[in-house]
Order: sequence, then C-alpha cells, then structure tokens
Amino acid sequence: MSGKTVIEMHNIIKTYYLGTPNELEILHGIDLTVSDGEFVSIVGASGSGKSTLMNLIGALDRPTSGEYELDGMATSEMSSNQLSDIRNRKIGFVFQTFNLIPRSTALGNVELPMLYAGTPRSQRIKRSRELLELVDMSQREKHMPNELSGGQKQRVAIARAMANDPAIILADEPTGALDSRTGRLVMDLFHTLHQKEKKTIVLITHNQELAEETDRIITIRDGRIVDDQDNREKARLLWGGEDNI
Ligand SMILES: Nc1ncnc2c1ncn2[C@@H]1O[C@H](COP(=O)(O)OP(=O)(O)O)[C@@H](O)[C@H]1O
Ligand SMILES: [Mg+2]
Repeated sequence: MSGKTVIEMHNIIKTYYLGTPNELEILHGIDLTVSDGEFVSIVGASGSGKSTLMNLIGALDRPTSGEYELDGMATSEMSSNQLSDIRNRKIGFVFQTFNLIPRSTALGNVELPMLYAGTPRSQRIKRSRELLELVDMSQREKHMPNELSGGQKQRVAIARAMANDPAIILADEPTGALDSRTGRLVMDLFHTLHQKEKKTIVLITHNQELAEETDRIITIRDGRIVDDQDNREKARLLWGGEDNI
C-alpha cells in the first residue's frame, strides 16, 4: 500500500471563464497525493467541485494553475496529444451514465481503449474476453449496450476501464444511476479490482455510505479539501477484506 505516488497535485486552481468579466473560481488550491494501490473516495455535496476535480485528475481538462504529476509525469508541459495518450494508457474512466459506444458490442466497447493504444487485434480480443469474464459478462459479449441492463452496462464499462491496465481507475458516481442492489454489485467489483488486481481506485461520490467502504475518505466542500481521513479500520469492518471475495 506504500507504493509509488500516482497522483500528485499541488495548489490546483480551476477557474471557468464565462466571458469576461465573469470568471468563476471553482477549485481553490487543491493538494492531493494518492499512492499506488489505494482505494480512495472523494465525497462532497452536489456542486462542491467533485466532477471538476475528476476531470483534472483524469487529464480531461487542465488546471488554471498549479502542478499535476500523473504517474510521475508532469502534465503541464504536455501537448494535447501527449495528454490524450497518457490518459488512454494511465486512466480507466467509469461514469454515472456508463458512456458506452451505442453501435458497438460489449466486446467492441472493451476493445476500444486498446485500439487507440495500437494493440494488435488478436491481443485486443483475447484481453477483452478475459476482462468480460472478470466482470461476469462473458455471456453478453455480442450484445449491444441497449440490450443490457444498467448494471450490465456498468460492468462492461468497468471492463473497458481496465483495458489498458491503467494506473488508476477513476469513477464518478458509478452507482448513481443504479438501484441499490445493482449498485452493491458494482461496489463489490471495485473491491475485487482493488484487492485482487491491486488497482488504485478513486471513487467520486456524494454518498457517504459508499465512501465509508473505502480506505481513505477525502471530503471536498466548496472547492476545497476539508478532510482527509484514514478509514482502513472501518472499511475492513464494513466490507470484510480478502475473505469476502
Ligand atoms: N464547464 C463549466 N463551466 C462553468 N461552470 C462550471 C462548469 N462545470 C462545472 N461548473 C460549476 O462548478 C461547480 C462545481 O461543479 P461540479 O464539479 O460538477 O460539482 P459536483 O460534481 O461536485 O456536483 C458548480 O457550481 C458548477 O456549476
Ligand atoms: Mg459531479
């Protein structure tokens, strides 16, 4: 758990420009360090800046100022192309609304990040099948997204997030569109990825109860980190650790 640093943010400020003179500072100086193998949640009320922070962690957007090193690489000097390449290789995204490609099968969706990474076809298919197996979706590889339930879509999305063996899985309200039983299955899957696949997971949620299952709870309020709590003991009690898998 005391691995290398995968996320290192210093004094990150994010301002949205809505045309001068209207500028809106949303993140007011975020310092955040996450080590390899951690399962962290970022909690906060709606509008507190969670998705803005996720977009920065995921290199989908750039900070207005501040330093961000992703897996040891300074992102501020990177071109947009370098940034998208890094993003594709280092980060697996899971969204509330799944964001699967509608005209692609489950297998095709999982293949996509590997296609962008230039992985040969046979290898892509082999790995996609293994990942669909991991999320218990092997029976559905030829299904289109509209032929899958919400929970099934999210499992495919999680398999896709794992495609390039990323340093970080970044999930923004991944259970937000699911009923509680299906949400439970998705959370269990994250625990499995964390414990068995040793993935670093950043779970963004407004749900304190879900956050309580993770090893570390970071609370964000009005664009500032106001609490950063070691929650390992409670997480272990709630989820039970390795024996539960
Ligand atoms: N692209 C944008 N342009 C302007 N304001 C934005 C944009 N994205 C988010 N915001 C504002 O930033 C604040 C934080 O939003 P967000 O990061 O989505 O919060 P959360 O995910 O915690 O609900 C909100 O006040 C929102 O209106
Ligand atoms: Mg949000």
